[in-house]
Amino acid sequence: MNNGDGETPPCTAANSRLAIMELANMISVPMSLNAVVRLNVADSIWQNGSNTPLTASEILARILPSGGGDPENLQRILRMLTSYDVFNEHVISPDASERRYSLTDIGKTLVTDENGLSYGSYVLQHHQKELMKAWPLVHEAVVDSSTEPFVKANGGETAYGIYGKKPEMNDLMQRAMSGVAVPFMKEVLDGYDGFNDVERLVDVGGSAGDCLRMIVQKHSHIKEGINFDLPEVVAKAPKIDGVTHVGGDMFNFVPKGDSIFMKWVLTTWTDEEVKQIMSNCFKAIPVGGKLIACEPVLPSHTDDTHRTRALLEGDIFVMTIYRAKGKHRTKEEYRELGNLAGFTSFRAIYIDCFYTLLEFKK
Ligand SMILES: C[S@@+](CC[C@H](N)C(=O)[O-])C[C@H]1O[C@@H](n2cnc3c(N)ncnc32)[C@H](O)[C@@H]1O
Repeated sequence: MNNGDGETPPCTAANSRLAIMELANMISVPMSLNAVVRLNVADSIWQNGSNTPLTASEILARILPSGGGDPENLQRILRMLTSYDVFNEHVISPDASERRYSLTDIGKTLVTDENGLSYGSYVLQHHQKELMKAWPLVHEAVVDSSTEPFVKANGGETAYGIYGKKPEMNDLMQRAMSGVAVPFMKEVLDGYDGFNDVERLVDVGGSAGDCLRMIVQKHSHIKEGINFDLPEVVAKAPKIDGVTHVGGDMFNFVPKGDSIFMKWVLTTWTDEEVKQIMSNCFKAIPVGGKLIACEPVLPSHTDDTHRTRALLEGDIFVMTIYRAKGKHRTKEEYRELGNLAGFTSFRAIYIDCFYTLLEFKK
């Protein structure tokens, strides 16, 4: 649309050549986001909640207190991310020669909280060099889905195999999971009553144990929480009152409990592997017990909303990094997998915009 400022050509969002240029250069968006996280821009603007609009030079002076850096290049990144609603841009001078930036609600998700967490670790986790090497090979998941692009790009190693060998990747994965889990779990604990009848709860693939920590803190009737994950993961997990860390492989066994909680685990795996994990969960709980899984669940229709895009983009991430046939599934696909594992009842609960709570009853 021509806004009459004399410099806007007659382009519309429907212009196909414009749209394909935008798509072709889209990599600038996540990589610039990665840059602002690496530079710690969000914390430098936030400053205990002041969120005062700052110029790129002022931000740079906070990021690099001993001086140096290129404010013009920082401003280029901030402007571009402003158009994705990460920053607010405040144009002070009439000729737009001075621009200042503050954080939007999206930008605030990158601010480190009192526990040292934010979505920043998730951004960094996704852009480590081992993961980045897989992306030019996405087409190979179509040509030959027997091996993941990640595995092809990393000399035959799986993602979890490499996390297990590289402590810095293992640590970043745990911080990324914690940063995403905590705000989601606040919503679950406010909106879901399925923990009321549980005394012994197992979290399968519980990472550092944040979900379980929050559940047992809110539900003091839970006598024991078992945080179950790979041995190298639980070895790094912090001590949590009321929670026992157990290392193992969910494809072999799942520790016994009244109910099982599981967040963001099933998505990673193929249908056959999901059946195996769910049957091990089924064996681990008594009749009447529940498997409470929180997963990104695909809508059946396709549209351009943030929600659908975030879910579909995550689906391609899983295909590229974890399992070429691991996937985001629909509610009906989960219902069917639950049936195959022996569960007799199923309900989907929509509490959060990204994850759906899937309750399978034995
Ligand atoms: C995407 S993360 C989710 C972590 C956590 N549930 C959350 O949402 O914050 C998947 C978790 O599954 C764990 N995992 C992967 N393979 C596993 C296995 N074979 N047995 C047990 N846990 C496994 C990973 O170590 C990781 O912590």
